[in-house]
Amino acid sequence: MLEDVDKLKAEALAAVAAAPDQAALAAAQGRFLGRKGSLTALLRSMGKIDPAQRATFGKAVNEAKNQLTEAFAARQAELERTAIDSQLGDPSFDPTIPGAPVQSGALHPLTIVQERVERIFESMGFAVLDYPEAETEFYNFEGLNIPADHPARDMQDTFWLDEGLVMRTHTSPGQVRAMREYGAPLRAVFPGRTFRYEEVDASHEHTFHQVEGLMIDRDISVANLIAAMKCLLREIFERDVKVRLRPGYFPFVEPGFELDIQCLVCDGKGCSVCKQGGWVELLPCGLVHPAVIRFGNLDPDEWTGWAFGLGLSRLVMMKFEIDDIRLIMSGDLRFTEQFKGAWR
Ligand code: PHE
Repeated sequence: MLEDVDKLKAEALAAVAAAPDQAALAAAQGRFLGRKGSLTALLRSMGKIDPAQRATFGKAVNEAKNQLTEAFAARQAELERTAIDSQLGDPSFDPTIPGAPVQSGALHPLTIVQERVERIFESMGFAVLDYPEAETEFYNFEGLNIPADHPARDMQDTFWLDEGLVMRTHTSPGQVRAMREYGAPLRAVFPGRTFRYEEVDASHEHTFHQVEGLMIDRDISVANLIAAMKCLLREIFERDVKVRLRPGYFPFVEPGFELDIQCLVCDGKGCSVCKQGGWVELLPCGLVHPAVIRFGNLDPDEWTGWAFGLGLSRLVMMKFEIDDIRLIMSGDLRFTEQFKGAWR
């Protein structure tokens, strides 16, 4: 019986050595070690062996099995290497040819800047909220202290839908919505698309993006507003930015301001970007009008606040030095792809 094991082992090792390729090797491995292989058969016959010899025999078969398994694996590795070597030697195979490039998408610059603005405000404890694009006349106008006969409506002509809804002309309707939804104190930003009936040119689009910011608390002052704006600008432009406030009129803030930043191109000396003035208009803002706080179902004697309305498209254009707003919504991939990996 032990001779049978030796004989089988010798045969198997000879087959390993003789196998010309991986297929032949696999076939030989099946013949000896497979489920119906001859060595497997020897293992199965164990029961018929004289109990006195069973231990010696079993040990011999197992040893043979282990040895053969190793021999097959070693030969398999060797044949694999030979196969690769012969491919490399084939003159039609050039391993230096670059691989096929993987096409990957890119975030739109608006998305990049919007996410950044959201993160900056989140770090200051602001919630990010989302409000409807098709808005009621109340939230878009009346609730913001703009009654039907108010001249401010003319500056915000928009698209009217059936059922008295309008495509929101700004993100400000979220102010009253947020106050009604969350009460006070409250810190939130709400970014989104806004719409106006607008003649399209290099700086005007009928569809554009804003981020509204709102902070409601006790004893809020213009100083709080300036501090938050300077923090936003420092993070966005990655440097300290000088700001100034000019009076600006919006029925839903009092006092209302236009916030200018010192020109980042010439540091205020005067250049073509700031039209020699040294300052660039960035965003309107102000302290929330008591009438608006009341529309938000809060008591204006107790609660105060600030709000700003940031033109996101405008900020994107400043950040990435884009000179035509129409590019932003053009859908032209040659445009958006330039921002691949920008500012991440
Ligand atoms: N909603 C105003 C606009 O789009 C901007 C604004 C927001 C002004 C908040 C003051 C405060 O023109």
